[in-house]
Amino acid sequence: KNIPSLFEPLTIRGVIFPNRIFVSPMCQYSSDNGHATDWHLVHIGGFATRGAGCITMEATAVVPEGRISPEDAGLWTDSQIAPLKRIVYFSHTQGAKLGIQLAHAGRKASTLATWVKSSADRTRHVDTSIAFANEGGWPDNVFGPVNVPWSKGFPTPKEMTEGDLQYVEDAFIASTKRSALAGFDFIEIHGAHGYLFHSFLSPLTNTRSDAYGGQSFENRTRFFLRVVKAIRSVWGEKPLFVRLSASDWAEGPEKDSDGKWLQWGIEQTILLTGELKKLGVDLIDVSSGGNWAAQKIPVVPGYQVPFAEAVKKAHPDIIVGAVGAITTPQQANDILAEGKADLVSLAREFLRDPHFVLRAANELGVAVKPAVQYERAWPGVLARM
Ligand code: FNR
Repeated sequence: KNIPSLFEPLTIRGVIFPNRIFVSPMCQYSSDNGHATDWHLVHIGGFATRGAGCITMEATAVVPEGRISPEDAGLWTDSQIAPLKRIVYFSHTQGAKLGIQLAHAGRKASTLATWVKSSADRTRHVDTSIAFANEGGWPDNVFGPVNVPWSKGFPTPKEMTEGDLQYVEDAFIASTKRSALAGFDFIEIHGAHGYLFHSFLSPLTNTRSDAYGGQSFENRTRFFLRVVKAIRSVWGEKPLFVRLSASDWAEGPEKDSDGKWLQWGIEQTILLTGELKKLGVDLIDVSSGGNWAAQKIPVVPGYQVPFAEAVKKAHPDIIVGAVGAITTPQQANDILAEGKADLVSLAREFLRDPHFVLRAANELGVAVKPAVQYERAWPGVLARM
C-alpha cells in the first residue's frame, strides 16, 4: 500500500475520483454569449490530458444577468449544453471527472474583464469596472440582497423581491437539469467570494428586514438553503459540492460579546455546513473573502487551510476541500496526511504548471501513466532511455 494521501482515490456517491487533486474553477472570460468555446475545450482538455483527474469548470451563470462579465460562461439556455457536452466527453476519454460550478454573480455582475477594462479601444473613462450596455453589460439589471453596490465603480443592485428569488431558484433548477444533460459528474454551487449567495449569507451585506436577512442566521441562510435543497432534488443521487467563503476578512471579530453577528466567519460557516449536510451536500470547498471591499487577507502559503481544518473537525462526516496558495506536492499531501482536509484544489499552480499531477506523482513516488493518449498510441514510447 503506502499510497500518498493525494493519490488515494476518493469515492463520492459511487463516482470514483482518481486522486485528490482538483483543478479549482477558473473564469476564462472566453465564452461566446455564455457558450463554451474551443478555448474551454483546450484549457480543460489540456488538464485532462496531463493527468488531472478532477476538474471543476468555471463559475457558470444560471441567468445572463448573473454573469460577472459579458464573456462569462452560462447555462441558462439549451444551446449552451452541446459545447459543454463536448468538453465532458473529451475529459472522460482521458479518465478525468468533470464538474461545473453553477453561479450567480449578484451585485458583482456586469463588470468588465480586466483586459477589456484596460484595452486601448475602451471609449470612455476608465475609473469604473462597470460593463455598460454598449459593451455588452446590463448595469441596470443587477441584483443583490439590498441596493448597495459592492464597491465604488460597481453597478447599484436592485433589492431582490420574493419574485426575483423564485426566478433565481427556478434558474438554478433549470441549469442543474442542463448540467445533467451535458453529462457532468458533479455540480459545485458557488456560495463564496461575495457573489449572490455569499452576499445573502453575510450580516455585513444582507441588511434586509424581511425573512431573508438581518441579524438572524436563519434568515440570512434561508434563500441559499432553499436553492440548495431544490438543486439536490433535481440532481438526484450524484455528487453535490458547495464552495463557501469562511470569512469576510473585515476588521474585528465575527460577533461581539453580546452574540451579535458582525461579519461572516468560521463559526457561521460551521453552522451552515451542518444545515448543508442535512440537505445532502457531499462536500464543502472552503475558500474565503470577496464580499467586503475593505477586506484584509493575510495571504501566506495555505492561508485558508485552517478554515478547512475547522470545518473538518466540526463535521468529520462531510468531505472537505482545502484551497488557496497550495503550490507544492509535499505541502498538498501534508494537508491531507495530517487530516486537515480530504482533498485539495489548486488554481494558479495549474496555470503555472499544467502537469502538476504528474509532477506530484513523480515527487511522491507514485507510478502514473504519463498521458493516456501517448501511452495508448505507442505503449512504452515514453520510457526514459
Ligand atoms: C479564480 N477563482 C475562482 N473561484 C471560483 O470559485 N470560481 C471561479 O470561476 C474562479 N475564477 C478564477 C479565475 C482565475 C484566473 C483565478 C486565478 C482564480 C479562485 C480559484 O478557484 C482559487 O480559489 C484561488 O485562486 C486560490 O487558489 P490558488 O490560485 O492559490 O491555487
